[in-house]
Amino acid sequence: MKVDGKDMRPIWFDKKSETVQVIDQRFLPHELIIKDLNTVDDTIYAIKEMVVRGAPLIGATGALGVYISLTQENNKGADNDYLKSECKRLKNARPTAMNLFWGVDRVLSAALQQADYGARIKAAFDEALAVIEEEAINCQKIGEYGLSIIENISKMKNGEPVNILTHCNAGWLACIEYGTATAPVYTAFDNGIDVHVWVDETRPLNQGSRLTAWELGKHGVNHTVITDNAGGHIMQHGMVDLVIVGTDRTTRAGDVANKIGTYLKALAAKDNDIPFYVALPSSTFDWDITDGIADIPIEERDPDEIRYVQGLCHGKIKRVLIPPETSSAANHAFDVTPARLVTGFITERGVCRATQQDILSLFPDKKK
Ligand code: MRU
Repeated sequence: MKVDGKDMRPIWFDKKSETVQVIDQRFLPHELIIKDLNTVDDTIYAIKEMVVRGAPLIGATGALGVYISLTQENNKGADNDYLKSECKRLKNARPTAMNLFWGVDRVLSAALQQADYGARIKAAFDEALAVIEEEAINCQKIGEYGLSIIENISKMKNGEPVNILTHCNAGWLACIEYGTATAPVYTAFDNGIDVHVWVDETRPLNQGSRLTAWELGKHGVNHTVITDNAGGHIMQHGMVDLVIVGTDRTTRAGDVANKIGTYLKALAAKDNDIPFYVALPSSTFDWDITDGIADIPIEERDPDEIRYVQGLCHGKIKRVLIPPETSSAANHAFDVTPARLVTGFITERGVCRATQQDILSLFPDKKK
């Protein structure tokens, strides 16, 4: 996507330096810092510390991480056990997003098919880049399929702005291009539909106010940042036509894990008869589980992410303590929205209702 006229992605392979590079999302929107990932430890750090974040991007980073593991440590990646253990370390970086396991396993299996070391490196590199390009195309298709949902609402409103609420950042920064939840928004905007986005700030790390607001602003999309608790109120007052969120892992039966607070938005949307859509590429489905509440591991992060807020102060990024120094805090990073609260899924294969039968009718290859 364009940033100040320049094409940007959140991750790329820089041919000149032969290095994997990423945007360090911890400093956006105030500073645009590029970071090199030279080692598996760099890659794990980037995923854990959320230099890169968002399910499809974590998957892409893990995929390139397998390639990186083959380019270090004196050809150690020729040894299958060593390579597998590096992949295990990569997969342990964060527990909730399905895409990480999917991306790492896909590249690992391509690499393992090659016994020759040089061929192994090439296979891993090609497969990781294929993951990245495919995810970009998937997000573009999500945009095309989601467009009709926004178009229909726009027609019903006789061209009045369509108000869409989103939570966290499921934009191109979280993916490769377009985003998942934001793809239909960008596509509608590019097709001349009047859209306005309510951006949940998304405490504690503010992916909404820092990243989604930045992205939308750079694309020229009209948006307003709101507190995480404002959604119910604005829904009750007819100020939201549609909710679209992304997801980190969705079960084959349609239970959705996404950023903490998503469940409360789904409850409020249900109570106010507002369509609640989840946009995702197929790499985010966990085809092995049905019960999201029981079976999706929910990441708990450092409580200091809640205790401190970070922002720009007199031109410098500063961290500030909010609660009393002695208060403890609990930082559950995701929650699960049961399928019954989801109106439908927007995927690269089309839109479907949130039932196992409907999901499998789009993905018949996943039937058991
Ligand atoms: O903790 P994060 O920032 O990695 O969480 C990201 C989200 O919850 C996104 O909504 C999700 O990954 C969907 S991204 C297209």
